[in-house]
Amino acid sequence: MGLIAYNGVDAAAFAANRHLGDDALGAWRGAILRYLDPRPGLRLLDLGCGTGSWTRAFREWWPGVEVVAVEPSAAMRERAVFEPVLAGDAASIPLADASVDAVWLSTVVHHIPDLAAAAREIRRVLAPGGPVLIRSAFAGRPDGIGLFRYFPEAVAVLDRYPSVARVEEAFATAGFTTTDFAPVPQVTAPSLADLATGLRREAHTPLQLISDEAYAAGVARLRAAAETTHGPAVDALDLLVLA
Ligand SMILES: C[S@@+](CC[C@H](N)C(=O)[O-])C[C@H]1O[C@@H](n2cnc3c(N)ncnc32)[C@H](O)[C@@H]1O
Repeated sequence: MGLIAYNGVDAAAFAANRHLGDDALGAWRGAILRYLDPRPGLRLLDLGCGTGSWTRAFREWWPGVEVVAVEPSAAMRERAVFEPVLAGDAASIPLADASVDAVWLSTVVHHIPDLAAAAREIRRVLAPGGPVLIRSAFAGRPDGIGLFRYFPEAVAVLDRYPSVARVEEAFATAGFTTTDFAPVPQVTAPSLADLATGLRREAHTPLQLISDEAYAAGVARLRAAAETTHGPAVDALDLLVLA
């Protein structure tokens, strides 16, 4: 069991609140293309695909690529905007040995209870030399992410996530080494006001795991900032690439 269960309430909030807009997707598309050649016939695994917004984007961007989506939560699978989504998790991927060319994990690694077991399973299904692209917030790196400014208590939750070094160590036990690591700025919302209006606590693990008082104080801070801060809300999550 990860940090949160992704039951029906979380899944509905995630589907409503966490699908990125075209600007943000475009920034990530550019970043991914530095490490992935989406040639026709390439098989790309979206592991922990959630409600499938990345799978859908990959399919739209690269029609010749075969995208395979795997997700452990039935509630997320039921709300997925992409079909089919296979039941499975990082330690038990329902695919044959060396059957995918690349693996994408977006905001998933902090939910994986045994990273070394996940790394071994990814090693098994991934063709030799294929990249593992990990999009995540990592312990010790709150600075690029706006929500942590308004909800400072959530930084303690982020510090329960794996650090970059911990992910690298776990993957090293399965023979992976780091290819690159870089923050990727994305437009999360057109404005802070939009961010405040659309915010759903259930869609964000760090906000679920702070007290109700801390959450209420953060919402008040965010709303106050939205009155004086204009322009897009930009966050930088990290991209860790291993092979
Ligand atoms: C924050 S959501 C991200 C969903 C999707 N990757 C995205 O970026 O839109 C985290 C997802 O990881 C899934 N998850 C939890 N534990 C997992 C595990 N052990 N292996 C794979 N996925 C897991 C959850 O069910 C949830 O759908």
